[in-house]
Amino acid sequence: MDLNLLKEKAKKAIESAPSRKEIDVIFRTYLGRKGELTTILRSLGTRSGEERRRLGQEANELRTWFEERCEARKREIQRAETERGGKEEWIDVTAPGKRIAVGHLHPLTQVQRTAREIFQSMGFEVAEGPEIESEWYNFDALNIPPNHPARDMWDTFWLKGNQKIPKEDGKVERLLLRTHTSPVQIRYMEKHSPPLRIIAPGRIFRYEATDARHEINFYQLEGLMVGKTVSAGNFKAIIQEFFGRFFGTLVKIRLRPSYFPFTEPSFEVDMTCLLCSGKGCSGCGNAGWIEIMGAGMVHQNVFGAVGYVPGEWQGFAFGMGLDRLAMMKYKINDIRLLYNGDLRFLHQF
Ligand code: PHE
Repeated sequence: MDLNLLKEKAKKAIESAPSRKEIDVIFRTYLGRKGELTTILRSLGTRSGEERRRLGQEANELRTWFEERCEARKREIQRAETERGGKEEWIDVTAPGKRIAVGHLHPLTQVQRTAREIFQSMGFEVAEGPEIESEWYNFDALNIPPNHPARDMWDTFWLKGNQKIPKEDGKVERLLLRTHTSPVQIRYMEKHSPPLRIIAPGRIFRYEATDARHEINFYQLEGLMVGKTVSAGNFKAIIQEFFGRFFGTLVKIRLRPSYFPFTEPSFEVDMTCLLCSGKGCSGCGNAGWIEIMGAGMVHQNVFGAVGYVPGEWQGFAFGMGLDRLAMMKYKINDIRLLYNGDLRFLHQF
């Protein structure tokens, strides 16, 4: 039979079919075991080369067209039925309801909230600052000199096209994604006088290679306490108290001398790696200790930058890595797990 004629016939039949069942019947007439089109397709083997090729191609195209038309018509019929209140469609009102999946907070958010609560209970207020920062707040005001390596483009995400924002004195500045939460210290002190106690949790960005302990963006929690007599001893006591409450057990910490331009003296605070109980693992780079924060006594130049009278105040500041805190608390050995959105991971919290 002529394929064109067959197509015409099929087209009419499909278009006038009133139901999905009818379409199934038509489908079988053409493509069933003894269907008209099936017969043609089967006969291809008995034909000679050139004719087989031509007919084969046409018959196969017709088959594809036919299958698609049948499906499309079925969908059309179903849509119409649904709109009419549906003969074939019905709702089983006695079927059990579908449970709506309720999500939960990301482990990082949980950790941040716990940390906030603990510090708030110790009298710390929560302050915030922007993730896009100016060079002044991120570096200059924090006593970080222009040639400091942290300003290197390899460490910092500078905003493209040399974007600038006007400053009060008419000067313009470059913008960047903040490399730490310390600029919030400046922003807060500009507007408030001591005595003060704040924390500033937030997201920060560093242009560096990623591995189990490093990400290009992560979370910090900044702390700042300023008064007439605030000391490094106060710092240690508060941090020890924080760790005790956060982990629910006594956690060993150690202070190592370090250097930050905005603190003097400066120290690095390590805690026993809870992943391996201090034995050394990939999570702590085999050290047994994990560096959890930088800290120190606020440099007088920083007080100068925010307009405090130099020598009149003293205090401590710290910046701890919330990701590392989360990793220690939940025994996560790779920071990248916190950012890849894998539900098999997230469902565990
Ligand atoms: N801002 C420092 C960092 O990101 C940490 C720090 C904060 C150190 C406050 C001292 C005081 O590494």
